[in-house]
Amino acid sequence: MRAIWSVIEDVADTDATILLRGESGVGKDFVGRAVHTRSARRGGPFVKVNCAAIPAELLESELFGHERGAFTGAYRRKLGLFECARGGTIYLDEIAELSLTLQAKLLHVLQDFCFSRVGGNGSIAINARVIAATNRDLERAMARREFREDLYHRVNVVELRVPPLRERRDEILPLAAEFLARFNERYGRQKELSAESLAHLTEYPWAGNVRELENVVRRMVVLADGEGAFAALAAGRAKRAPRSAGARVLARREPGPDRPPRRAGGGADRARGRARAGALESRRGLADSQGQLQDAAQQDRPVPPHPAPARTRGALRAFDPDAWRVPAWNLLRSARWRGFRTGRRRPRARGGG
Ligand SMILES: Nc1ncnc2c1ncn2[C@@H]1O[C@H](COP(=O)(O)OP(=O)(O)OP(=O)(O)O)[C@@H](O)[C@H]1O
Ligand SMILES: [Mg+2]
Repeated sequence: MRAIWSVIEDVADTDATILLRGESGVGKDFVGRAVHTRSARRGGPFVKVNCAAIPAELLESELFGHERGAFTGAYRRKLGLFECARGGTIYLDEIAELSLTLQAKLLHVLQDFCFSRVGGNGSIAINARVIAATNRDLERAMARREFREDLYHRVNVVELRVPPLRERRDEILPLAAEFLARFNERYGRQKELSAESLAHLTEYPWAGNVRELENVVRRMVVLADGEGAFAALAAGRAKRAPRSAGARVLARREPGPDRPPRRAGGGADRARGRARAGALESRRGLADSQGQLQDAAQQDRPVPPHPAPARTRGALRAFDPDAWRVPAWNLLRSARWRGFRTGRRRPRARGGG
């Protein structure tokens, strides 16, 4: 991340277009704003456009504005977001979600740095720095023809990849301290984090990146047992981590007295075996979610019956022919069914009597 800050210092006071990339929650918006506040345009507006949130048919007029009478309902001239960002920065978030038509239009805008309003003829010069951001794999999107390669080269003047939080663990505690101070002040608390919580914070995988860390610290401040809840969450993750290793050990177990060696050949046998293994695997998954698999693997005893919630059990039962007998019997016994079979149905009112 230090490398990124040095690039930011280098490019902030230029007007170079920047492409920010990185997983969700790593801090792309944060970096975009940092570039703006370090640039000569800091006195101007920072206009954020979420390309995924605006309906495609409205986006063009939102970005570039429209003239009066350009389409039904265009009663007045409207300035677009590019014009609103005059003298400042326009931040195009989730740029990979733009439709191909708008990508073509944006390409021309970024090429000539001027645009025209919808329904207008005049050319308006852009006076804003463009920063684009995405958490999508643009190379794959280009290969699938979902993102234009020429637009990629237009926005990718300076590319900044913000790394996931798990790859910059040295930043976890300083960030946590910053969030702790912020939320203590905001919610009028004096919460301090225990050494155990700090250890959990540094070890946690942080799939949701800085956003997840921010929310975890917020919960620790707001909830009476926020630290306890996070400890349980972290312990759950830690327990799940060796699960796959444990499951592999179980799957690879050598034949023993309780486990006869596999018979050679027999396609039907193999298919049955695979089905049994599949059923066992789903049961294991369920049992494991209760933290039982690890114990079972360690003690080499069978996995206990799955403690799945009733609805999940119902779904599993759908594959078990024995389990169908009871509901079918209930149906046969139901009064309506009996009435139907014995012909004791409600007599229909006959007309014209
Ligand atoms: N270096 C940082 N210092 C303080 N807060 C940060 C930092 N990086 C990220 N944050 C905070 O983390 C949260 C998520 O960051 P941000 O919205 O910038 O992520 P993002 O990469 O744009 O995510 P998405 O792809 O989902 O839009 C925000 O509340 C932001 O303020
Ligand atoms: Mg964002």
